[in-house]
Amino acid sequence: CGIVAYVGPKDAAPILLEGLQRLEYRGYDSAGLAVVNGKSLKMRKVKGRVSDLAEAVPARFKGACGIGHTRWATHGVPSDVNAHPHLDPEQRVAVVHNGIIENADALRQRLEAEGVTFESETDTEVLCHLIARAVKETDSLDDAVRRALKSIVGTYGIAVIDAQRPGEIVVARNGSPIVLGIGEKEMFAASDVAALVRYTRQVVHLEDGELAVLRADGFHTFTSDARETAKEPFTVDWDTGHYDNGGYEHYLLKEISEQPDTVARTLRGRIDDRFHIAHLGGLNMDARETRSFRRVKIIGCGSAYYSGQIGAQLIEELARIPADAEPASEFRYRNPVVEPDTLYVAISQSGETYDTLAAVQELKRKGGRVLGIVNTVGSAIARECDGGLYLHAGPEVSVASTKAFTSTAVSFALLALHLARVRDLSPADGRRICEGLRRLPEQIEQILKLDEQIKTLAEKYAHSPSMMFVGRVRGYPVAREGAQKLKEISYVHAEAYPASELKHGPLALINPDMPTVAIVPDDELLDKNLTTLGEIRARSGRILMIGHRAADAADDCVVVPKNETELDPILLTIPLQLFAYHAAVALGRDVDRPRNLAKSVTVE
Ligand code: G6P
Repeated sequence: CGIVAYVGPKDAAPILLEGLQRLEYRGYDSAGLAVVNGKSLKMRKVKGRVSDLAEAVPARFKGACGIGHTRWATHGVPSDVNAHPHLDPEQRVAVVHNGIIENADALRQRLEAEGVTFESETDTEVLCHLIARAVKETDSLDDAVRRALKSIVGTYGIAVIDAQRPGEIVVARNGSPIVLGIGEKEMFAASDVAALVRYTRQVVHLEDGELAVLRADGFHTFTSDARETAKEPFTVDWDTGHYDNGGYEHYLLKEISEQPDTVARTLRGRIDDRFHIAHLGGLNMDARETRSFRRVKIIGCGSAYYSGQIGAQLIEELARIPADAEPASEFRYRNPVVEPDTLYVAISQSGETYDTLAAVQELKRKGGRVLGIVNTVGSAIARECDGGLYLHAGPEVSVASTKAFTSTAVSFALLALHLARVRDLSPADGRRICEGLRRLPEQIEQILKLDEQIKTLAEKYAHSPSMMFVGRVRGYPVAREGAQKLKEISYVHAEAYPASELKHGPLALINPDMPTVAIVPDDELLDKNLTTLGEIRARSGRILMIGHRAADAADDCVVVPKNETELDPILLTIPLQLFAYHAAVALGRDVDRPRNLAKSVTVE
């Protein structure tokens, strides 16, 4: 979900709508806003997109202090009443909220027993009633919010306005991001800097448990027990241009096409051609510590997790340290054994995914050493980690991850090289990897030229009811990410399997209606992979092969340039992004905003 807030000399509504548009990728099933006008609240909210909300807001919607929200449903179906903001029955207080209030049912029952009637099914309305009661007992809005939050168990990022206090907004954070934007005699707040960069690049991140009071002339931040905190503003180096679609029909295509450049940015200044090592100053580790790890554990969600699987493979192969990846959500719930000689790596494009953040916090609590591979500078996960690498891929707007995935895999190649060169990797092999990394941008450029061929293939296969993706060892995470992309944006059912496992079960599914996308790099496993293709073919399965040379067993082949064997998975992923993109377009899907999904999932 996304939050925006504004207080200053201008009308808030157009600024809130523009901000919500920028945040729509965080959730898009309903949207709403409220402004203080005189000493009353005006509010509009609708089921649907921000553009639907813009139509519902009349031109004369005056008020220089307001809050807005775009929602991804958790409690209650998407509907007008469940949309935010929520108002109390007297229409004095309006609240927008991201996160989940875990004790909402108990609080609702208590309030209902006391005679409060609820309009919606949301947990947020509970909070709104609590604040509305508290404002009557104190003469400060922040104090009222603080009192209400004391009864809450759960996560929140909130923004609150009070009709009796025009010109004041209170925001608070616990587990769900809130960023303040400092303008000229105006203040902004949002759940994501994306909503702010058009107006200001000076931002302040709230920490969990912090609360802020915003007025046009500035802000004050406090801890939950009302002690004022000192905050240093931070300058964001992404500007509005980074959030435009650059003339492409979809953000997804823009982001796929940017990859030669984004990969070059991830690599910039990090390869040392003299010693064939990687310079990763952000890790904050000396050589002795770098050598001390006996295991690497990687955590992330969704595509971040799959890129972590590529990372684990790279680390094992190059550095010969046992490494594996696990979904952050699974990791945090299974009471993991946290070892002192394990290096933990958390991956997140947004740096705000709640499951990943909670896993990092759990690790820190147990004394784990955690690095972050994160795209968003200053985000919660980046701040929580002991050190790490930023991707420098620029903001990723389309819900399905592409350039962040690739840059994460490239970051892992750098990390693997770094860990390897203080161990057994020879200078000659180090050099081979450095040279391979330098070739990547140019080779991605070549793969992007296959767009027309891949489009034709996507149109051919997109109408299949289901597709199988297979790969072996290095190719397996590639297959998983390829299946994930197809599922996310085209809604075609896809399953990914290790190629070797096919014969142990899923081969039963193969028939002419279930084509297979096979990842077949030219490596030491080529013959084994060709055997798998033969098994599929013998069951009348159609095969689209992604590899380094054509094979007779496949119906169609996409041939990509070869790099060093260890780095090939990075390149093999790119055709699958284009395949999913063109399949989604062929099926008429909403490519950048697939149903039921959100780019940043800041709830558990
Ligand atoms: C959501 C998105 C996925 C993304 C995952 C992790 O589920 O829909 O595309 O891979 O979150 O996001 P992160 O920002 O942590 O990389």
